[in-house]
Amino acid sequence: MTTRTPLISGNWKMNLNHFEAIQTVQKLHYLVPKQVFEGVEVSIHPPFTDIRSIQTLIESEDLDFSLGAQHCHFEDSGAFTGEVSPAFLAKLNTKYVICGHSERREVFGETDEMVSKKVLAILKYEMTPILCCGETLDEREAGDMEAKVLGQIEAGLAGVSNEQIASLVIAYEPIWAIGTGKTATAEDAQAACAAVRGKVREMADDATADSVRIQYGGSVKGGNAPELMSQPDIDGALVGGASLDPDEFARVIQFAG
Ligand code: PGA
Repeated sequence: MTTRTPLISGNWKMNLNHFEAIQTVQKLHYLVPKQVFEGVEVSIHPPFTDIRSIQTLIESEDLDFSLGAQHCHFEDSGAFTGEVSPAFLAKLNTKYVICGHSERREVFGETDEMVSKKVLAILKYEMTPILCCGETLDEREAGDMEAKVLGQIEAGLAGVSNEQIASLVIAYEPIWAIGTGKTATAEDAQAACAAVRGKVREMADDATADSVRIQYGGSVKGGNAPELMSQPDIDGALVGGASLDPDEFARVIQFAG
């Protein structure tokens, strides 16, 4: 059985300007004891305008954080007003790029096909996609959770080699739990993440399924992180609201302690 280092990712969404971002990361680093980073990886996903500042801070002070982005386009360059190329993110030493977040899908109309192109573009620049999936409350209540989520995984991993799948991150985020204060029960979250891993096993093989890291996301906080993170198929968390508060995010990061 492969040991998977948990990944806790702070998705700041459209919050914190670059001054606030620097202060937040400095405070967070101060709050988390150094030895905690031996057992957990932490990525920070600020808005695009903050990324260069946070890159400089992480590199100059040798902080134990990985740099992440929330989104990118799938083309290298061109007439795409307002978009950001994966090539630009790679130049800033960005390690993780969230892709297919439900807010991008629901608010900005990202389709499975676009998400698939983004996964391939992020991999092309040797960054790691955090591929998001999740169902609405209506879909869950209609018994369609697995069909929706596993369909998103099938589309998102199309054309990705087993070796690449093994290294990437999938985030299961039930849409009804995002920003609502409602969290899936640890049992439901585990069942969904196990189903996602089963889908990877079916599409690839055992070794790939045992290596891929699967995060849970949706109202994760210091209080619910320990139970969620102790589930066998949950390898970390994608954290929105709680990642904006260094005290709360530090508690999530130290879930094991
Ligand atoms: P939340 O957001 O933790 O505020 O629910 C999670 C996410 O959207 O990634």
